[in-house]
Amino acid sequence: MAMFPELRLRRLRRTEALRALVRENQVDVGDLIYPLFVEEGKGIKLEIESMPGICRFSPDRLPEEVEEVAKLKIPAVILFGVPEHKDEVGSSAYDPEGIVQQAIRAVKKTAPEMIVVTDVCLCEYTSHGHCGIVDENYVDNDRSLAVIARTALAHVEAGADIVAPSDMMDGRVRAIRTALDREGFQHIPILAYAAKYASAFYGPFRTAAESAPKFGDRRSYQMDPPNVREALREVEQDINEGADLIMVKPALPYLDVIRAVREAFNYPLAAYNVSGEYSMLKAAAQKGWLDEKAVVMESLTAIKRAGAEIIITYFAKQVAQWLSK
Ligand code: PBG
Repeated sequence: MAMFPELRLRRLRRTEALRALVRENQVDVGDLIYPLFVEEGKGIKLEIESMPGICRFSPDRLPEEVEEVAKLKIPAVILFGVPEHKDEVGSSAYDPEGIVQQAIRAVKKTAPEMIVVTDVCLCEYTSHGHCGIVDENYVDNDRSLAVIARTALAHVEAGADIVAPSDMMDGRVRAIRTALDREGFQHIPILAYAAKYASAFYGPFRTAAESAPKFGDRRSYQMDPPNVREALREVEQDINEGADLIMVKPALPYLDVIRAVREAFNYPLAAYNVSGEYSMLKAAAQKGWLDEKAVVMESLTAIKRAGAEIIITYFAKQVAQWLSK
């Protein structure tokens, strides 16, 4: 191998054109999925305090946002619902007239080409705020599966293109696959939140979606942050159950997990740049402490470099605008 002074690594960094020529990774608008929060009601566009620039929309106000997203050439959105009615079993999650089902139809009517992904979980719909059915303060895995599968089916019947279970019950991917296939939806892919950690970075999202657990926490079903080998087993299980795409969540504090999953599995890999990751950069940028565009692009590039090809991010609209300039 050549050594200094023959080797001068700075030669390829001298101009932007040279740097671009040898660049190994870059963020492309076609890789992005934009999260949308929808709530019941009319005329609502309400900014989430801890997530500047991100709003909750009622279905009638959704088209204006979706048109903007489509115009920016962002290929996909992921929907999160804030229902009026909550109960023990999260029945509004699978109601054919549920909030996400209404939103799916609104998005499809506005932008038929937009890929509509739905988050399949019960925490926004249950009175206790847990992601499954609770039995004596413990989330009952197997009883939750039927409700989760029924919710995914309701989303697909309303027009969803991809369903993304985020509940972290064992066996949910198989339960969803079975339900979809039985009803003739063999062509609908499942994006499994495969390695989803019990992270404090979901804080702003839970305020936005009113989905914080009313007792306890999610550590009995979401993953323990110190573990990485376990993430590979989670991903393997979801693939064996029929997942088409897999996800690691959160993204930036878990880049090593993204890398490990990328090396072990040849499946399309998404990373979720979660609410707390967004809020941190937004807050520092608003204070003038960080250059927003620079730190956002550097962060998302790091997620790609770690090995994710798809990024779910609240920055998607801004990134699309920056990239188009
Ligand atoms: C639902 C769900 C959560 C997120 C995505 N789906 C919250 C949670 O698990 O508590 C978090 C997304 C974010 O923080 O941006 N279970």
